Amino acid sequence: MRTQVGIIGAGPAGLFLAHLLHRAGIDSVILEGRSRKYVEDRVRAGVLESGTVDVMRELKLDDRLKRESMTDEGLDIRFSGKIVHMDFRKLGSGKVVTIYGQQEVVKDLIAARLADNGKILFEADAIAIDNIDTAKPSIRYNIGGRQETLECDFVAGCDGFHGVSRPSIPQHLLTEYDRVYSFAWLGVLSHSPPIKEMTYSNNERGFALCSRRSPKVSRHYLQVPVDEDPDDWSDARFWDELHLRMDDVTKEEIVEGEIFQKNVAPLRAFVASPMQYGRLFLAGDASHIVPPTGAKGLNLAVADVRVLSRAIIEFFRTGDAKRLERYSEVCLRRVWKTVRFSTYMTSTLHRFPEHSPFDRNIQLAELDYLHRSTAAQTTIVENYVGLPFEDD
Ligand code: FAD
Ligand code: PHB
Repeated sequence: MRTQVGIIGAGPAGLFLAHLLHRAGIDSVILEGRSRKYVEDRVRAGVLESGTVDVMRELKLDDRLKRESMTDEGLDIRFSGKIVHMDFRKLGSGKVVTIYGQQEVVKDLIAARLADNGKILFEADAIAIDNIDTAKPSIRYNIGGRQETLECDFVAGCDGFHGVSRPSIPQHLLTEYDRVYSFAWLGVLSHSPPIKEMTYSNNERGFALCSRRSPKVSRHYLQVPVDEDPDDWSDARFWDELHLRMDDVTKEEIVEGEIFQKNVAPLRAFVASPMQYGRLFLAGDASHIVPPTGAKGLNLAVADVRVLSRAIIEFFRTGDAKRLERYSEVCLRRVWKTVRFSTYMTSTLHRFPEHSPFDRNIQLAELDYLHRSTAAQTTIVENYVGLPFEDD
């Protein structure tokens, strides 16, 4: 099989890329190792920056999003019995964020791609990328017990942190920056109405976050040790701990409900640089991971493929490779700003077992400063709703 752009991975990065290329008449094939059901059911992020929603609108992929999503116009941070309320419209450039689950985005993008006769091969596991440093790279993959080859002009490595793309770049050409945290997030979905605002809490007992997916479904998180077994958390234990960490002493604010999904996700910041080698371009989690405290992972993947699609389109239209050559540099500027923000939110809002009393007091001073400073709040809001896209 042959195509112009061979895409590995049907997560947000690969799917958005396929749509952006298709709009410009460029052919692609997506190889996805898992089944369609698996990728559509995988519960992950839920906060879309306005730039991400703009891309969905431009691609006419926002029909269901318009009907079913919710808008967040602010966020709260709780600490030491206080609440910092940040109003996006007052402090930002008028942008808000949209609440719509990543798996809903993935479902919409897969359905639209297949309706356009786009090729997504599910249960097609890429095992190697060959001839990357030539103009005719190819991807070897296993499907239905056979080995096949996809020949292409470019390979987009959109296969997440554990994929085959990043390890295909010679080790000595790649620099990897890594920070692994000593704690994780226990995340649940529950049938219960959410609280009024997206609320992050830095509590003596640890971090907590109250978010939502719909007027009837809440998404909550608790900071837990990295090796925590989710089965050790009965529903009652989860709710008791969440009330405590959110200062909901009377248990009247947070409505309890049946917990129907529970998982533990580790926290990590990781950047691989550069994001390109020969005709292979990495995008999304294949190249970088941010801790979830800034709600940025999915949005960053979309920003990458926006830059990549423009560069590929320019190349096919004019033969000019300048944008392709600058792909990594342009993306990494946003990546590092996003890592900076996500690291700031993580270090400000969690309890670090290794913190000395000095460190804890600095953290509380940071929160107290944020409580009183419009400038500090504006910085958070500017980053949270999403920095403007940079094309060059
Ligand atoms: P992915 O979504 O990981 O997609 C990569 C795809 O490639 C997958 O479908 C995978 O099956 C496929 N693949 C991998 N290897 C191969 C191969 N060899 N051959 C073929 N296909 C392959 N972000 C937030 O902002 N908030 C959150 O709450 C949040 N929770 C998360 C929870 C978990 C468990 C994880 C892993 C991530 C979470 N993230 C969260 C991050 C966010 O979901 C990611 O940043 C986002 O999914 C990145 O999209 P992507 O397309 O780059 O990668
Ligand atoms: C979510 O709703 O899943 C969510 C919200 C905010 C975050 C991370 C995840 O920072």
